[in-house]
Amino acid sequence: MINRKLPKIWYGGDYNPEQWEADTWAEDDRLFKLAGIDVATINVFSWALNQPSEDEYNLEWLDKTMDRLHANGIGVCLATGTGAHPAWMAKKYPEVLRVDFQGRKRKFGGRHNSCPSSPVYRHYSRLMAGELARRYKDHPALLIWHVSNEYSGYCYCDLCAEGFRRWLRKRYGTLEKLNKAWNTRFWGHTFYDWDEIVPPNALSEEWDGNRTNFQGISLDYRRFQSDALLECYRIEYEEIKKHTPDVPVTTNLMGFYPELNYFEWAKHMDVVSWDNYPALDTPPSLTAMTHDLMRGLKQGQPFMLMEQTPSQQNWQPYNSLKRPGVMRLWSYQAVARGAETVMFFQLRRSVGACEKFHGAVIEHVGHEHTRVFRECAELGRELQLLSDKLLDSRVQAKVAIVYDWENRWAIELSSGPTVALKYVDETHKYYDALYKLGIPVDMIGVETDLSGYDIVIAPVLYMVKTGYAAKLEAFVKAGGTFVTTFFSGIVNENDLVTLGGYPGELRKLLGIWAEEIDALFPGVTNQIVMKKEYGALNGMYECGLLCDLIHSEGAEVLAEYGSDFYKGMPVLTVNRFGQGQAWYVASSPDGRFMTDFLSSLCADKGIKPLVNAPAGVESTLRVKDGRSFLFLLNHNAEESEVDLAGRQGTDLLSGQRVQGSVRLPGRSVMIIEH
Ligand code: GLA
Ligand code: ZN
Repeated sequence: MINRKLPKIWYGGDYNPEQWEADTWAEDDRLFKLAGIDVATINVFSWALNQPSEDEYNLEWLDKTMDRLHANGIGVCLATGTGAHPAWMAKKYPEVLRVDFQGRKRKFGGRHNSCPSSPVYRHYSRLMAGELARRYKDHPALLIWHVSNEYSGYCYCDLCAEGFRRWLRKRYGTLEKLNKAWNTRFWGHTFYDWDEIVPPNALSEEWDGNRTNFQGISLDYRRFQSDALLECYRIEYEEIKKHTPDVPVTTNLMGFYPELNYFEWAKHMDVVSWDNYPALDTPPSLTAMTHDLMRGLKQGQPFMLMEQTPSQQNWQPYNSLKRPGVMRLWSYQAVARGAETVMFFQLRRSVGACEKFHGAVIEHVGHEHTRVFRECAELGRELQLLSDKLLDSRVQAKVAIVYDWENRWAIELSSGPTVALKYVDETHKYYDALYKLGIPVDMIGVETDLSGYDIVIAPVLYMVKTGYAAKLEAFVKAGGTFVTTFFSGIVNENDLVTLGGYPGELRKLLGIWAEEIDALFPGVTNQIVMKKEYGALNGMYECGLLCDLIHSEGAEVLAEYGSDFYKGMPVLTVNRFGQGQAWYVASSPDGRFMTDFLSSLCADKGIKPLVNAPAGVESTLRVKDGRSFLFLLNHNAEESEVDLAGRQGTDLLSGQRVQGSVRLPGRSVMIIEH
């Protein structure tokens, strides 16, 4: 638990007093108090200020800020500030500058701009982390460390090329093995010397960012870059731990951010934190799925909502305001799914540069008489009242959806069968149906233990890693229900096809053989024609995107394609395996199918919705010491009525006793303890 020192849901966010004259600070203190703010994330982009030259530190402003915040009852989430290197460093040591995808050497500018392989960057970021940790290790304001910021982007420089070759030597040992893993006899790519290998970018194997001639090298480069940035994080982490072994360390992640394998990262984080920036039209179920993924990175442990905007962003094409009530609603959505902090970017709105139109708790007008401030202050008060009540309570789910970054890379790097296949979208389809049914879901990785689940769904499990098929077999044998889809079981970890018929290693478990894969043009559909009823599944549904042409090898065929030359071939099968079942959905179905299918599977397993709620009302349950906290979130603008399905208790936000059914005003929240 991170909140031991401040035992409540932390409330606050990024605070940049160094961008302001000292005369605003007292006003900040006053306004933070009014808003119920108790945590400030500071020093996120202050490297240049903190280190004017190679051997000079300038941290007095930070001393004063830490002291001032502490004197005002505010704890500090202390960033190391290494997310943007100083200009002098770039000038003196151009090696810290990245080379971009086009092969261009960058100049100083922007942020998240350091080459992850640069020894100079690693050296100075280590020193900075150490300096800060030594200096503030006993500071009473210090709550948690925030290393760098939103690690992101790849570099293709010569240092990275060398780093890549070292990484490859470690992974493959010999060039012979590497040549085999990458299938380099294709297009005459055989390597005879490690030095012949260059980073795959627009100058070599890739184009359009995600298209590649060689999946093997492109996949490994992603693994390498994710690892290289992770090493940078770990260098700082270890330096900090030398001085403050008991202070938790995190870095802010970005949900489904494609470029880093967060399951690997989370192993080295004391607590997961992430930045949530949905647009006005982002489906709430997509945000919910992202929270669940962030919770899943550390097997269900609570996480931090490190950033969200109180009102609007500046970097989207259309930066709509969060409507009245929405900031509160989305804050509780995070808490409902495991967050134990509600934090903003940022506390005071910037006066200049590109984020001056980004929302903040204190707007440009500078006082508290704004809609945004009032809403923030109201939430601040509520979180004070909730105190430590919800801390360390856990979400419990019987259904899990598998998500794997390497699988995503492989799918999206794949040339064929369709450009329209998006791994996150297919995953979301399954999640969304369960969300709408009110069934709790855990988002899990391929290393997560499956034994606690009744149903495990792995949409588009294109890449089957060593040992994963056996793990799934053991799960099903023991009585589990497994669901996978079209374009699964195709390749191994090196993107080499498992020969002998798709779905490769999953063939035995699924009891089918997929002979061909058809890609449908946008707007073209086929049909899922049920041969036999299964629960709510009945009649006919639409499907599209990809259609696997499969044969049963023992699986029961529940539905067939309704048209095209493969009309009558199986599209939905179930194979009984040991005590359990393994389902194959051979195409991408419509929403109606998803609901009927998943509700039937859940009913079969005795998994029930938490409550009976109309569309637009989200429900979750957090549990601790025999107490349950039922969250009801009304995403509708209008009132909605929810049947509590026999639950009764007290709404923690209003103090009201509730039973039977409840009426939730538009965009309102209830947390019912029972
Ligand atoms: C990111 C960054 C912040 C800020 C916000 C703006 O999450 O971490 O520094 O730029 O975006 O939305
Ligand atoms: Zn580099």
